[in-house]
Amino acid sequence: MTETLTIALSKGRILEQTLPLLNAAGIELRDDPDRSRKLFLDTSDESVKIVVLRATDVPTYVQYGAADMGVAGKDVLMEHGGRDLYEPLDLGIARCRLMVAGQPGADERPGTLRVATKFVNITRRYYAERGRQVETIKLYGSMELAPLAGLSDLIVDLVDTGNTLKANGLVPLEHIADISSRLVVNRASMKIKHRRIKTFIDLLAAAVRPA
Ligand code: ATP
Ligand code: PRP
Repeated sequence: MTETLTIALSKGRILEQTLPLLNAAGIELRDDPDRSRKLFLDTSDESVKIVVLRATDVPTYVQYGAADMGVAGKDVLMEHGGRDLYEPLDLGIARCRLMVAGQPGADERPGTLRVATKFVNITRRYYAERGRQVETIKLYGSMELAPLAGLSDLIVDLVDTGNTLKANGLVPLEHIADISSRLVVNRASMKIKHRRIKTFIDLLAAAVRPA
């Protein structure tokens, strides 16, 4: 009997940009993710299933083995901590940068800075390494609003073109990390389904455009 492989992807740009790579690896979706309300999607390979999740839930599903593999942004993986996950492949998609941003000079204000972000673990680590006292404020979206509304001095957010910052009178101040999406694999699956997963990784690696 062929082993089933379950792959966790998140809605939006990761799903969109991973599908061509999966196609190149010989896996095509049978269900249309834009029209279907199903979250467990069939593929051209009966033994491969796709689950569609919130981006931040992908590492959790893979960590617990509810999915054998997943695709998640490095930002999400850094925030999650990556326990029990192998990260064998950089897919080179959904590239952006994780930055500290704010009004010009906002990072030079004296005293404890307030930093609003989705990425509280990364933010705490970043400032702890620099010995800088900050208060982190957890947000779930629209980070750019926080400095404008007087909620925070700074934000830690993803920046691609810089248009969102610019449109809100903010500037990038410090670079934390370059981000792209990674394939992650559950450690137990990697052992138990080694040959199957290794073949899949090799096919996917061949489809990835060099940086
Ligand atoms: P959620 O549904 O949990 O709010 P999300 O809205 O952050 O997730 P996306 O916006 O699709 O989901 O982002 C998914 C991933 O894509 C991010 O984790 C990041 O790695 C990458 N990403 C986010 N914004 C950009 C961007 N502007 N340009 C390129 N890549 C991005
Ligand atoms: C991301 C990020 C920034 C924006 C940056 O948001 O949170 O707001 O992209 O991109 P830019 O530098 O090219 O303007 P996204 O568009 O994914 O929206 P959402 O996460 O708020 O849904």
